[in-house]
Amino acid sequence: MITLTIDGKKIQIEEGTNVLEAALRNGIDIPHLCYHSDLSVSGGCRLCQVEVEGYDQPVTSCGMACAEGLVIQTQSERLTAIRRNLIDIFLADHPLDCVTCDKAGSCLLQKYAYEYGVKETSYIPIYSKTLYQDDNPFFIRDHQYCILCGRCVRVCDEIVGVHAIDFANRGFESHIATPYDGPMIDSSCVFCGNCVEVCPTAALLPVSRLKRGREWDLERVDSICGYCGVGCKIEYAVKDNEIIYAQASVQESVNGSFLCTKGRYGWDFAVNPERLTQPMVRRDLAYSLGISTENWRLPKVSPLDIDKPDVDDYFIPVDWETAYEIVSSKLVDIVKESGPDAIVGLASARCTNEENYLFQKLMRAVIGTNNVDHCARL
Ligand code: SF4
Ligand code: SF4
Ligand code: SF4
Ligand code: FES
Repeated sequence: MITLTIDGKKIQIEEGTNVLEAALRNGIDIPHLCYHSDLSVSGGCRLCQVEVEGYDQPVTSCGMACAEGLVIQTQSERLTAIRRNLIDIFLADHPLDCVTCDKAGSCLLQKYAYEYGVKETSYIPIYSKTLYQDDNPFFIRDHQYCILCGRCVRVCDEIVGVHAIDFANRGFESHIATPYDGPMIDSSCVFCGNCVEVCPTAALLPVSRLKRGREWDLERVDSICGYCGVGCKIEYAVKDNEIIYAQASVQESVNGSFLCTKGRYGWDFAVNPERLTQPMVRRDLAYSLGISTENWRLPKVSPLDIDKPDVDDYFIPVDWETAYEIVSSKLVDIVKESGPDAIVGLASARCTNEENYLFQKLMRAVIGTNNVDHCARL
C-alpha cells in the first residue's frame, strides 16, 4: 500500500492503481469520459486532468500511477478552464438535444456540461456524424451523439473479445464502425450490449428504452439473471411495472459491469401474455382423471406442425394441489411398473443450492434412484 494526498485527503491505495481510480474509490469525483475502471486506459478525452505538486502542467489522472507522497489537486481555476474548454470542443460536434434525448439524466457529457456551466459551444459547430443505424433488434447506433471516447471499442476487444467495432476515418469523419461499415448483423458482434452499457452518451441505446422514459422516470430493481448457473446480477430499469431495459449491476457481483446477450435482452418473457402462470393438464388426461367432462382427443396434426398452436386448445388450467396429485400418482405408477431407475430427475441451475439439495434427496430417498442431473440452461 502507498499513501498519497488528494484534495487534502490522505489516501491509502494498492500500488499500481491510477490516480483517477484512487480518487473515485475515495469519493472524489474527477470528471472523466473515456475512462472505465474495467477497461484499459486510453487517455483520449483529457477531462480527468489534475494538478500534481512539483509538476508545471496538469496531467491526466487516469494515466498516472499513484506514487508514495504524491500531492494532487483535482479542482483549481486552471483545471476548470481546461475542462470547460474540452466540453466546449465536445459540444462543437454534438447536437444540444438534451431536452428530448433518451439519455438525459444518465449522460456523462450532459452531467459535466451542467457542472461546468457550458451551455453551448463557442466554436462553429459541425454536426457531421448523422448516421443513425438501427440495423439490429437490440440497440441503435446514433453517431451524432458519439464523443469517440472508445469505451465501446475497448469493451468489445478486451472483455467480449470479438473485435466487432473500431474507429474509422479521421477528423470530423471519425466514427465507430464495423468492418467496411457494414450492418452490425453481418459483423462478428454477438449482441451482448456491453458497448451500450459503457457508452457515456446516447450514441448507443437499447431499442427497448427509446422514448420510454428518462432517468428520473425509471425505477431500479435488482435481480439475478435466471438463464444460467453463473447468476449474474442484473439491474432492471422499470417504468409502470414494465421492464424498460436491463443492465449489469456492478456492486459485488460475479459479472461486474457486464452481461451476456440473454441476460441483457432476453427478459421479455416476464411480461409475455403467453407466459404460463399456473399448472396445465392436457385435456385428454383431464378427462380420464375426471377433472374435465369433455371427452377430448389429441388431434392427428401435431402441435409442432401448427404455426402458432394455442395452448388453451390442448390444456386446461388446474390448481397446484391437483397438479401435485397427478404428478405423484404417475411417479408411483412408474415405480411400480418399471422400477425407480425408469425415472430421471433434471434439476435447474436457476434453483438455489438448498432447492437442488432437496431435489436430489427427493430422487434418492423418495423415488429411490440416483438418476439425478441438472442442466445449466434449464
Ligand atoms: S447524449 Fe447527452 S449531451 Fe448529448 S443530447 Fe443526449 S443527454 Fe444531451
Ligand atoms: S454488442 Fe457486444 S459484441 Fe457487439 S459490438 Fe457491442 S460489445 Fe461488441
Ligand atoms: S459509441 Fe459511445 S462508447 Fe463508443 S466511442 Fe461513441 S460515445 Fe464512446
Ligand atoms: S478519463 Fe482520463 S483522459 Fe479521459
